[in-house]
Amino acid sequence: MITCPRPLVLALTGCSLTVGIGISVYATSVFAQEERADAALNQLVHEPPTMEDLESADIHPELKKVIRYGHDLFTNTQQLRGENVFNDMNCSSCHLGEGRVPFSAPVWTAAITLPDFRGKNQHVNNLEERIAGCFAYSMNGVPPEYGSDEMLALSAYHQWLATGAPMYPDKPIYGRGFPAPEEPAEGPSYARGETAYQENCSICHQENGAGHYENDEYVFPAPWGDGSNNWGAGIARLETMAGFIYQNMPLGQPRSLSDQQAWDIAYYITRQERPQDPRYTGDVAETAERFHGRSLYGQTREHDGHVLGDHDNFGEKGDIKPWNVGMPRFENLSEE
Ligand code: HEC
Ligand code: HEC
Repeated sequence: MITCPRPLVLALTGCSLTVGIGISVYATSVFAQEERADAALNQLVHEPPTMEDLESADIHPELKKVIRYGHDLFTNTQQLRGENVFNDMNCSSCHLGEGRVPFSAPVWTAAITLPDFRGKNQHVNNLEERIAGCFAYSMNGVPPEYGSDEMLALSAYHQWLATGAPMYPDKPIYGRGFPAPEEPAEGPSYARGETAYQENCSICHQENGAGHYENDEYVFPAPWGDGSNNWGAGIARLETMAGFIYQNMPLGQPRSLSDQQAWDIAYYITRQERPQDPRYTGDVAETAERFHGRSLYGQTREHDGHVLGDHDNFGEKGDIKPWNVGMPRFENLSEE
């Protein structure tokens, strides 16, 4: 649960509500219902169970405990700060509504589509490895070991959210990922993005993107800077950021920005600095060439000539390398 910092109480009605309530307002909004009904014709529409459903579910009480722990880790990942998490995020900072909400990259999808080949690391990944990926990049962290209590609890939570959904579905999944709105005819602009960010977002995320802490407690996450995800994260890509923003922000008002505003703000945010990519080779151009076909990493910022990602700042993590990054697998299998 989060409460709003003082200035917000004035600015936002209903801000003393939990973020979760904001989300359920979204989930039952008219457009969501209409869209779901249309989508059900040719997409997989799945309504994941809630934590309330868990209490009445006919499953072993020990399993319930583990799923509850997984949910707790997902929504308060800060409890692993300094060990597995080195930024200001929880998993639910990006996967809104406990990882259940459509168009906010609901996470149960991974439980029914993996194992599968993943382009990002060029081998077949299972659910644990996908979760480990978000630890290494989005949490600027070091994932818990495969098979550890934390990893088992998180994957149990993901799999339980998928209860009743078919494995390896033959239709596209409704609400998967952070789909971006159409790229506007007029290309995105840094200056317009900055203005729109300051108007619509800085009240919670601060003018300098550092997010908000009160009495050492996390309130709002950091869209850029040391407390944010590192350069290797999916949301550092312009299109993914535009999709996240359009579908989810400002909090509680999804799809209220125009396509143009969402792209402009994404353009502005993805041109700010964040912790170094853990795959950094020591050379920004080489790292960009090897790993960054789809982000702005290594590109020169127009207004001041700064090369994005050209620094040795790994954030709070320092240069501990997450053990899952660059780990080759299945090398003993013959070519076919
Ligand atoms: C900074 C934002 C951010 C944070 C924090 C974050 N993720 Fe993600 N996550 C993403 C993005 C972006 C994707 C890719 C979405 C897409 O398909 O475009 C993703 C994808 C996933 C997927 C795959 C979903 C699918 O459709 O296949 C899983 C599972 C997942 N994340 C779990 C986690 C877990 C567990 C944590 C916490 C340890 C976490 N994420 C933290 C941004 C984040
Ligand atoms: C009312 C406060 C509020 C406003 C206004 C708001 N956000 Fe957020 N934002 C949040 C919260 C809270 C989260 C994390 C979700 C959670 O914890 O449930 C978040 C998450 C995010 C994230 C993913 C995590 C991160 O920090 O990278 C991004 C990016 C983001 N917001 C961008 C924006 C943008 C862009 C705007 C303006 C269009 C905006 N937000 C407006 C409260 C707000």
